[in-house]
Amino acid sequence: MKIAVAKGDGIGPEIMDAVLSIFKANNVPLEYETVDMGKWVFDKGFSNGMTPEAQLTIENLGILFKGPMETPKGKGVKSVNVTARKTWNTYANKRVFQTLHGVDTVFSKAAIPIDITVVRENIEDTYGGIEHMLTHDVALSRRFITRPGSLQVIRYAFEMAKKKNARRITCGHKANIMKITDGLFLECFYEVAKDYPELKADDVIVDDLCMKLVTRPDTFDVVVLTNLQGDIVSDLCAGLVGGLGFAPSANIGDHICIFEAVHGTAPDIAGKNIANPTALLLSGIAMLRHLGLMENAAQIENALLYTLEQGVRTGDFGNKNQPALNTTQFAEAIIRNFGQQPALNAKELLPNMPVTQTVFKLEKNPMLVSKEMENEKIVGVDMFIESDEQPAVIAKKCQRHAGVKFNLINISNRGTQVWPTGSIYTNLVNQYNVRFESLDGSGLNQQDVLGLYVSLSGDFKICSSELLNMWGEKKAYSLAQGQ
Ligand code: NAI
Repeated sequence: MKIAVAKGDGIGPEIMDAVLSIFKANNVPLEYETVDMGKWVFDKGFSNGMTPEAQLTIENLGILFKGPMETPKGKGVKSVNVTARKTWNTYANKRVFQTLHGVDTVFSKAAIPIDITVVRENIEDTYGGIEHMLTHDVALSRRFITRPGSLQVIRYAFEMAKKKNARRITCGHKANIMKITDGLFLECFYEVAKDYPELKADDVIVDDLCMKLVTRPDTFDVVVLTNLQGDIVSDLCAGLVGGLGFAPSANIGDHICIFEAVHGTAPDIAGKNIANPTALLLSGIAMLRHLGLMENAAQIENALLYTLEQGVRTGDFGNKNQPALNTTQFAEAIIRNFGQQPALNAKELLPNMPVTQTVFKLEKNPMLVSKEMENEKIVGVDMFIESDEQPAVIAKKCQRHAGVKFNLINISNRGTQVWPTGSIYTNLVNQYNVRFESLDGSGLNQQDVLGLYVSLSGDFKICSSELLNMWGEKKAYSLAQGQ
């Protein structure tokens, strides 16, 4: 089997060389094709951080094992790490956090075992990076949560939880505030849960989840979240088991998978050969299992666990009274310990069952549609306008434009209603949302909305607009705070 390897920037080449030396010593039956990705590729003028040859190789091989990569600051380019995950639709980011004996934490000292798998949605949310300045004072980020995208990652999480005999699968969310976006994610969670009655499925609001994770981490097993919340919660979980040096990550898609450590390029220690290769090694072990190389994975993991149990360490963790090994020496210590059994959490030596490597040649971009449109009606429009006038003045002007089709319903500022009712204590910024609805409750068409747009633009700069839709009896939009 052949996989693509990108060593990355900063400490990337050091830790990747260490991991590949361990694979080689264990006779891992893999061939590697090195691809060009990362900072120096940006510097050469490839704005997405990878060469076209790298893209082709990865699409042909289906597996990318990568070191961390730097996003050049202030050049307006996007992170190649995020580009790779999104371009190849690796919709599930799986991060496993387990107690590692030899890595002291408050929980290991208190004999509280941790085994948490965070599954983070990997494509959508604010990571779409679709951002605009609406006025000089007001920035807007569009947060996409989609039904097909949520179903993909949630179904993966349930399948994985079933395979690992999970005690519990929990959805972390903020659906009490973001009723439509997080509400959709939560709805999808319980929709999928129906197909897995054997699993205990529940949900926890994300702030409460953070508190519970640090007080009772042993009560959690699989946790599935949207992208940004999942990013934050998974770093919190990394802290529970000893820090970023121990946090592996698998980006799973239907055609292409990417295995990498959670941490970045660690520029402060790059080039010194002192970085901890454990997170990348754990990511590599997850990749071996994904490829069916069970025996290699178990042998290497047992040697790693045994090495950690012996108090062997790099400078970033462990007992500071014991000397720290450098990256190469740490890898050599693991190689010397092949065949040793750790006292705790030893992995069973299952035989290798290499998966058949399938190269997927897609004819066109897959279109994900999970629900048919039914009984859809436009009932109004939100017009986001720039103005530093008072709400009553804006209302008066807007009412002149409402005409025979629209009714001015309310005006809000930063999501808080300021007209027809509101409080004089609400601070304002120079950007309002003016909500118009159909005068008689009947459906509107886009020409009606355009007519309003043209008329309103005589008085205001319209920064953006959103249609207000009804799906049957259900409002497909949120109410303003206080409406
Ligand atoms: P970072 O994870 O690189 O470093 C944070 C701290 O952790 C530093 O003190 C570093 O020395 C330490 N650290 C990280 N990995 C370590 C290891 N294996 N062994 C020992 N110590 C380790 O995060 P930072 O500084 O925010 O980001 C640096 C660069 O990495 C940025 O350009 C960022 O965009 C990129 N990055 C790339 C990621 C990826 O490729 N998936 C993920 C996160 C950041």
